[in-house]
Amino acid sequence: MSTSEIESVLKEDRTFEPPAEFAGQANVDADRLEALYAEAKADPEGFWARLAKEELVWEKPFEKTLSWEPPFARWFEGGELNMSVQCLDRHLTTSRKNKAAIIWEGEPGDKRTLTYQQLHAEVCRFANGLKRLGIGKGDRVAIYMPMVPELAIALLGCARIGAVHSVIFGGFSAAAIRDRVEDAEAKLVITADGGYRRGKVLPLKEQVDAALAEGCPTVEDVVVYKRCGNEVSWFENRDRWWHDVVNDESTHHEAEAFGAEHPLFILYTSGTTGTPKGVVHATAGYALWTKLTTRWIFDLKEEDTYWCTADIGWITGHSYIVYGPLQNGATSLMYEGAPNWPQPDRFWDIIERHAVNIFYTAPTAIRAFMKWGEQWVDRHDLSSLRLLGTVGEPINPEAWMWYHRKIGGERCPIVDTWWQTETGGILISPMPGVTPTKPGSGTRPLPGIDVAVVDKDGNDVGDNEGGFLVIKKPWPSMLRTVYKNEARFKAGYFGRFEGIYFAGDGARKDEDGYFWIMGRIDDVINVSGHRLGTMEIESALVSHPQVTEAAVVPRPDDIKGQAIVAFVTLEGGEPSDTLAHQLRTELSEHVVQEIGALARPAEIRFTDGLPKTRSGKIMRRLLADIAAGRQSGDTSTLEDASVLDKLRKDNE
Ligand code: WTA
Repeated sequence: MSTSEIESVLKEDRTFEPPAEFAGQANVDADRLEALYAEAKADPEGFWARLAKEELVWEKPFEKTLSWEPPFARWFEGGELNMSVQCLDRHLTTSRKNKAAIIWEGEPGDKRTLTYQQLHAEVCRFANGLKRLGIGKGDRVAIYMPMVPELAIALLGCARIGAVHSVIFGGFSAAAIRDRVEDAEAKLVITADGGYRRGKVLPLKEQVDAALAEGCPTVEDVVVYKRCGNEVSWFENRDRWWHDVVNDESTHHEAEAFGAEHPLFILYTSGTTGTPKGVVHATAGYALWTKLTTRWIFDLKEEDTYWCTADIGWITGHSYIVYGPLQNGATSLMYEGAPNWPQPDRFWDIIERHAVNIFYTAPTAIRAFMKWGEQWVDRHDLSSLRLLGTVGEPINPEAWMWYHRKIGGERCPIVDTWWQTETGGILISPMPGVTPTKPGSGTRPLPGIDVAVVDKDGNDVGDNEGGFLVIKKPWPSMLRTVYKNEARFKAGYFGRFEGIYFAGDGARKDEDGYFWIMGRIDDVINVSGHRLGTMEIESALVSHPQVTEAAVVPRPDDIKGQAIVAFVTLEGGEPSDTLAHQLRTELSEHVVQEIGALARPAEIRFTDGLPKTRSGKIMRRLLADIAAGRQSGDTSTLEDASVLDKLRKDNE
């Protein structure tokens, strides 16, 4: 984030009260919110225990609410439950049985609706099919699919039999799939022949084939859902069509109960080192918090059509397309493709046609819509909308105001929700019927969540002073560990402040107790709301034979929030202009091959040297200043100032 952005956020003093009409009907009103805060404060464990008993369907009740041996938390021990029962079976004996669970739209315009009864039947068939393939409790299943209903069915099918799913976003490359499948030691990969994106077929199966060709020895089978009918290679002993797996299976499946702490899924995310980390979530705590936050924050009503535009390949899709909404018996809309296909009004068209009431998207998407122009919005009747949400990165006040005015018609509260892959669910957010909002602030932590801004010694800082965002008490949906890497879990999240979770974000708290997130302060770049580690991109670059060293930094970007700038030194020094041009293309492609298109650098700069400290550490902060065209502050620790001078000259 640039200094000017921080300043513009600091100057923000507009406040928006929840519209009276909305407040009057909200699930959580001021009294209820007050009572929740008071209850959580007076007796945190009692608070969580009460909610867990009320909200979840337990096969066996839990005996102990929390065991906290920092940094290890165990919630609701002794209890047994099944996540797919929370999402499906529980609704079948209610009036929701024939209610739409998933309304799906493919990019080419094809549509499907699955009621709770139908979704349950499909999940049971798939669970039976998984069993027949020899998948059972604790086995890891990697999922690399387009946004089709079968993706949700795959998640729920795994959960039903206690298999641990690990979804890999469809934009990742073969090499990135291989890293994740190998780390998780997955026994099965579920994919599709392809998926649609901007009118083209993404060859997903091909990527999986390439990933498995050079490794992944633990994978025994690959299940392939036929989505696009594109041609695929076939390995008789390994590959089987999804339809063949489920066709003869029964729609009945007796769900087994698993321990509250049984891992529900692993989701890989970027951190400060070169390899992504497998964030592990446990069943009961995650179930509880995703259920509660969905109902509280999105104010879900029985008749609502709710749409979260995320991809299920990210945590937002896990928690707020699948598990949160389905546990609440909501109707969750799912869309396969791009927001600007066939035209930049696709989202507004979907909202109008399906009469969407609740819309949850990312600031980067909002900024893209602003750029594409209001005429695309004006073509559509968006009067069904009653609540808007954002997630993934700080929202700039201009985008907030546009969202409020143009999409929300000034009548919809906006919930700016702060959370992370690691937190499992939303931790900071306005309560839409109660909390006055300020553009750019996620406002306050939710009941039971103890968030603070501290200095480097762990002491709370004063109002409006910047510091580290930490969470002082454990919460039910917190990550339990980093898969097979306890050391990284401890050091990465609890290493900086003893027994306290450090989120990796910088923040400040204003005089009203509102939190303002200033962005990552570790080596993570947030491109269009996607987390990427600078080290991951750097390792990809240096794996190219001509590269000796690489440093990757973020640069502010009007649409993406941040863009990737790479500083690269080459074997043989700075290249000629023609060679530089060619190498830039080659290196970009190389990064795409290694990670995926989402990691493509916006700019690659060749240089003779990188600015380093006397101990040899690359000073990325200075490079970030150069990339952004800012003046640098303190350069006194620099080993060789001429390197920096030269880079600055190149800027001119
Ligand atoms: C950033 C996405 C400001 C933050 C759910 C966090 C946000 C990282 C917000 C997690 C928000 C997410 N305001 N920043 N409302 N929401 N972030 O794991 O830097 O993909 O640490 O989880 O996104 O990204 P992740």
